[in-house]
Amino acid sequence: MTKKIVALAGDGIGPEIMTAGLQVLQAAAESIGFSYEVEELPFGGAGIDAAGHPLPASTLRAAQAADAILLAAIGSPQYDNAAVRPEQGLLALRKELELYANIRPVKIFDALKHLSPLKAERIAGVDFVVVRELTGGIYFGDHILEERAARDINDYSYDEVERIVRKAFEIARGRKKRVTSIDKQNVLATSKLWRKVADEVAKDYPDVTLEHQLVDSAAMLMITHPAKFDVLVTENLFGDILSDESSVLSGTLGVMPSASHSESGPSMYEPIHGSAPDIAGLGIANPVSMILSVAMMLRDSFGETAAADRIEQAVEAAFAQGILTKDLGGQATTAQMTEAIISSL
Ligand code: NAD
Ligand code: IPM
Ligand code: MN
Repeated sequence: MTKKIVALAGDGIGPEIMTAGLQVLQAAAESIGFSYEVEELPFGGAGIDAAGHPLPASTLRAAQAADAILLAAIGSPQYDNAAVRPEQGLLALRKELELYANIRPVKIFDALKHLSPLKAERIAGVDFVVVRELTGGIYFGDHILEERAARDINDYSYDEVERIVRKAFEIARGRKKRVTSIDKQNVLATSKLWRKVADEVAKDYPDVTLEHQLVDSAAMLMITHPAKFDVLVTENLFGDILSDESSVLSGTLGVMPSASHSESGPSMYEPIHGSAPDIAGLGIANPVSMILSVAMMLRDSFGETAAADRIEQAVEAAFAQGILTKDLGGQATTAQMTEAIISSL
């Protein structure tokens, strides 16, 4: 059956990397006879421009009815002081689709090892997954801004913590069977709850080791001993920060994909980085984060494991040939990087 994919290119470099992702999808799909149709819709700043809202009603309806959603990036300095911001559309879409589980894998391509800001011995063996809670916490509590004071409410229920921690344990079972739960339980009530829930969930997974780590020292360990991690699970805000930190182990934000899952509806796949306004329109954005998001979609939403593996191998092969975009110290344009990946496919 033909699969329906909604593509949200968004803002900044979004349209450039979405084009790349869809080209790779087409090449991969042709080779395996995967039948799909793509509906491209406005979202983020492009949604505000087209319909006055970062998540236009028609975009939301199409996303709800899709088999999977691809999102490139949203955000633009032009909305920095506006009443409605592109980011609100992203948060609303995650909430509407109940995409509570954001999976951000961190693996260093062999051909990029020398580009890591860390010494080779520190990044040897790095292969972990950040499991970020995506629909709760301080992102979705009240935000109260007064003239001379402000408050953001961090709110988590037992059930919200339980389902994301359970997800992390399930993922760990298919990997090295180690979960690191990250919190700030020496200060925060939400973190005390988080740690208690993690301990309780762990009882159902005697084959998986659970350890707890405070978020500040976890940030340090990610630089000093990144290879010690297998599956990290943490709340929304900590996951946002730690995943950007972990992405640069491979030398750039531009190669890290993510998947966001709900309990039943369509999943969404997106790079972890933003719209990179500083390089938008120059044709030099690294498309690999988007292309690897396409691979995650093929694997997680459509069970096309071999096609997903082949895309990942094609990326590695292109890097190994020395085809690198500017963020990795190379000269390749977005289009040249994409062509190299497609020809390796
Ligand atoms: P950013 O991730 O957009 O950019 C940070 C730096 O990384 C910039 O120097 C940028 O040029 C570089 N970079 C990012 N992706 C790259 C790529 N694929 N290739 C080459 N270089 C790349 O973060 P920012 O500048 O803090 O935020 C810009 C806007 O993006 C803001 O409006 C922010 O809210 C938004 N944002 C959106 C998402 C999303 O759509 N999921 C994620 C993060 C930030
Ligand atoms: C991300 C982004 C978003 C977040 C912003 C754009 C709202 O940084 O996807 O990591 O903070 O979740
Ligand atoms: Mn982020």
